[in-house]
Amino acid sequence: SGRINVAIDGPAGAGKSTVARKVAEQLGYIYIDTGAMYRAVAYAAIGAGITPDDSDRLGQLVQTLKIVLAPGDEGQTVWLNGENVTSAIRTREVTLIVSQIASHEPVRLKLVELQRGLADAKGIVMDGRDIGTHVLPNAEVKVFLVASVKVRALRRFQELSGNEAVPLQQLEQEIAERDRSDERREISPLICAKDAEVIDSTELSIDQVVALILDLCRTKT
Ligand code: C5P
Repeated sequence: SGRINVAIDGPAGAGKSTVARKVAEQLGYIYIDTGAMYRAVAYAAIGAGITPDDSDRLGQLVQTLKIVLAPGDEGQTVWLNGENVTSAIRTREVTLIVSQIASHEPVRLKLVELQRGLADAKGIVMDGRDIGTHVLPNAEVKVFLVASVKVRALRRFQELSGNEAVPLQQLEQEIAERDRSDERREISPLICAKDAEVIDSTELSIDQVVALILDLCRTKT
């Protein structure tokens, strides 16, 4: 049986990365977190003093970045020009601007090219917002993972460490805001692919979602 590609898309905090990592582990595939790439660009922009609305300078910046995703102890290690930015890209500062950073065409063109190259050899599980619709339209398995905004905010709330504590209600607002901006952008907005399987994880455990996706994969390999 041949190797396939698996695309997992959906709104922020639906559990995509946890689920995608476990599916990849079970299949012996490589997991690729495309959100981490956009976060790395956002982090680099902050470091370079580039504002999130400056499409031209972001386009120049992205050409100078070497982003490498490597399997690590806890999922995936993200390298940016040789610097380990795995935790630095998860701060609120980055989270609050990443959606605007990701709305610019030159940024997306560059990262999509990188993502398609990584998927060439098959046997990958890739998560993001536009994987099934745009990056890998021929992926054999496409999942659109959703959950209520309340549950997504609660999951994020439980992840955040003490010094980054944010009231639950504020998190809920920020998540809803990021969804809106990802859904409304002009280029490759967050949208469910016509041929994607919708899985609502609101009342499912991680392992239940993983099992559903593995079932889908079994029918394709
Ligand atoms: O998945 P994560 O929440 O880390 O993604 C951060 C942001 O990166 C998203 O809110 C979205 O704006 C952007 N993104 C994107 N396309 C992808 C993956 C992420 O635009 N394929």
